[in-house]
Amino acid sequence: MSKLKIRVDQDKCQGHARCKSLAPELFELDEYGNAHEVGDGSVPAGLEDKAWLAQTNCPEIAIEVTEE
Ligand code: F3S
Repeated sequence: MSKLKIRVDQDKCQGHARCKSLAPELFELDEYGNAHEVGDGSVPAGLEDKAWLAQTNCPEIAIEVTEE
């Protein structure tokens, strides 16, 4: 399976935090409540479904998931 990478578009994120609720291992919130990918955004094995779930549930379509 190819490795996934996530990235939060800071211009689009409005702090809905659904990503953090659904995939706390992959997202962290800054002091303004906006989400950032943890580390370099690489999705650890086994968390792929959570990455896609977070992307699907972001109301601002701010989360990019790419396959490396
Ligand atoms: Fe931002 Fe979407 Fe998460 S708006 S906080 S990336 S659910």
